[in-house]
Amino acid sequence: MSPRLLTLSRFTTTTATTITTKGIHSYRAFSSKLTPSNYAFAFDIDGVLIKGKRTIPEARSAIRMLNGDNALGRKVPFVLLTNGGGVTEQAKAEQISNMLDVQISPEQVVLSHSPMQALVDQYKDKNVLVVGGKDRECFEVAKGYGFNNVIIPDDIHHWQSSVWPFRHPSRDSLSPDADSLDFSKIPIGAVMMFHDSRDWGRDIQIMLDVICSENGVVGTQKGDCTVQEIPIYFSNNDIIWSTEFPVPRLGQGSFKMALESVYKTLTGTNLQSTSYGKPYPTTYAFAEQVLGRINNGKKPSRIYAVGDNPAADIQGANNYGWSSILVRTGVFQEPGNSSHFPATSVCQHVEEAVKWVIQQEEGKNES
Ligand code: G3P
Ligand code: MG
Repeated sequence: MSPRLLTLSRFTTTTATTITTKGIHSYRAFSSKLTPSNYAFAFDIDGVLIKGKRTIPEARSAIRMLNGDNALGRKVPFVLLTNGGGVTEQAKAEQISNMLDVQISPEQVVLSHSPMQALVDQYKDKNVLVVGGKDRECFEVAKGYGFNNVIIPDDIHHWQSSVWPFRHPSRDSLSPDADSLDFSKIPIGAVMMFHDSRDWGRDIQIMLDVICSENGVVGTQKGDCTVQEIPIYFSNNDIIWSTEFPVPRLGQGSFKMALESVYKTLTGTNLQSTSYGKPYPTTYAFAEQVLGRINNGKKPSRIYAVGDNPAADIQGANNYGWSSILVRTGVFQEPGNSSHFPATSVCQHVEEAVKWVIQQEEGKNES
C-alpha cells in the first residue's frame, strides 16, 4: 500500500446538530476534515440500494466500503440522490441507515423535493397546495422547508366532500387547522407535487380545480381556461420505478402525463409546469453543492452516479458531465448497455460499481 494512499485516509466523522420540524436532533455528520477526496459518489436509492421494504444485499457492503471499510481504511464522500421523497431528509437517512445497517447522515440525502427549497423565497407567505405522499407527511416537509401557508388536498376534500364524492379523507391525514379552513376565501398561489399521489383521480380533480379557477379559489372557474396563471411544480418525472414487485411500478411522471392529458382534452392547450429531480440539472447542481460541503468545501473533480433508471439516473448524470454507472438490480434489465441513454459503465449491482470505481481511482496518480 503506497504511503500516498494512506495519507488520504484521514476522513473523520463529527457530530452536528440540526433543527427540524420535529425538534433538535444530533447526528454524526459525514465530513472529510483533513484531506478532501478527488472523487465522490451519488447513489440512487430505489432499485440500487433497496427495493420497497427489501434491502439489496450488495448495498450494505458497498456503503460500508465507502464509510472506510476497505483495504486503505479511507472514507469516500457520497450522497443518496433519489427521486423518492414524501418524508424529511432526516427520516430518509434513518430509514436507509436502518435498512443497510450503516451510518448515513441527513446531510447526505438529496430527495426529489430537496431542491424545491429554492422556491421558499418566492412562495413563503403564499397559499401553496402541496400534493402527494402519505397522510399529511408532505405538509410537514413543506412547513419544515419554510413554506408558511401549506394546503393539502385532504383539507380541501374535508371542506366539501362533494369535491370527490366517492370517499372521505381520514381525520389523521388532515392538517391541524383543517376544520377552520374555508377554501371559498383562500386563493391558492401555486401547486407543488412533492410525492406520488395516493388517490390519482381525486388529486387530478383538485389540481384541475385550482388550475382552472378564478385566482386560485377552488369552486370558481375562470372564463378562459386556456390561459394558465397558477404555476405547477413536480418533484420528479419518473414514468416507472422499482420496488420488490417483479415488474416496475408507475411513478409521478405517469401521474403528470395523466393530468396533462385531461387538461389538454378539456382546454385544447398544453399544461405548463416545472419539474425537479433527476434528470434535471437543478437537482444535479444541488447535489454537487452538498457533495462539496461534505467534502470539506471542495467540489470533487469526478462524480460517479450509480442508478437503475436510464431515463432519470443515466441521462441526468451524462448531461451534467458526471460519470454514470447503470446497475441491473432495478428498472433496467436488458442485456448490454441502455440503447436510449448509454451509461459510462454497466455493472451487475452497486457493490461491483463501487469496486470498479475505487480500482479506477486508486490507479490515478494525484496528489
Ligand atoms: O418515487 C421514487 C422513485 O420514483 C424513484 O426513486 O431512488 O430510484 O430515484 P429512485
Ligand atoms: Mg432508482
